[in-house]
Amino acid sequence: MAKVAIVTGGTRGIGEAISLALKDMGMTVAAVYAGNEAKAAAFTERTGIAAYKWDVGDHQACIDGCRKIADELGTVAVLVNNAGITRDGTMLKMSFDDWNEVIRVNLGGCFNMAKAVYPGMKENGWGRIVNIGSINGQAGQYGQVNYAAAKSGIHGFTKALAQEGARSGITVNAIAPGYIDTDMVAAVPEPVLEKIVAKIPVGRLGQAGEIARGVAFLCSDEGAFITGSTLSINGGQHMY
Ligand code: CAA
Repeated sequence: MAKVAIVTGGTRGIGEAISLALKDMGMTVAAVYAGNEAKAAAFTERTGIAAYKWDVGDHQACIDGCRKIADELGTVAVLVNNAGITRDGTMLKMSFDDWNEVIRVNLGGCFNMAKAVYPGMKENGWGRIVNIGSINGQAGQYGQVNYAAAKSGIHGFTKALAQEGARSGITVNAIAPGYIDTDMVAAVPEPVLEKIVAKIPVGRLGQAGEIARGVAFLCSDEGAFITGSTLSINGGQHMY
């Protein structure tokens, strides 16, 4: 039977590419989205992948939504925590709401979703969780104390949960994308983005599919011995 995968933020950008890559692997994919209904409907029309709407920062919504997906499609075997938002601003300008919302969605969302699907994975003795971190969680970024803290937290979350899941056949890994050609990166002011791209050794933004292929590998049976690791896919912008 086809494995069931959930991809949060799965109807657009990097998430859309991940949803498609997992579908290509023969999985039954459910894409979770929070806001843009028109884009989600177009995504389902285009790809045949079901889209479910809720806020991953809302704990109860995650529990209820994942139960609904399990009832409709089967026990969830793969979770990709990709949903993320930015509220960039320097410390002087960043409000508490800007801080809190990014932590709630980007980091809280990982806990909420893993909490909902982990028991089923443990019972089945097989699971794959991939959390999408960021180069900016590894290296920091001017104007992003909220986002960098949330993404850095994701890397710690990954290593801790990996230790818990290992004996149950559940691998937990992170991917740390660099600057990828998405709406999120397009929102960075052009002169700022130009300076960032100038520092990427391969000389260009990444493509969403280049992240998705990494996710697909980590979610495959062949990835069974990789857990607690972070795969950096950033064109050489940050190496460590
Ligand atoms: N290092 C040092 N100084 C910097 C700097 C940097 N990286 N960036 C800007 N500055 C300086 C500027 O030169 C400027 O100084 P002067 O006034 O002396 O010239 C000062 O800081 C103010 O800069 P801005 O005019 O840019 O300030 P602002 O308040 O208008 O904007 C900002 C601040 C919103 C943070 C803006 O700089 C910005 O959008 N930066 C990009 C942030 C970024 O990379 N976000 C990534 C989003 S995509 C993503 O997050 C996906 C992912 O995972 C990679």
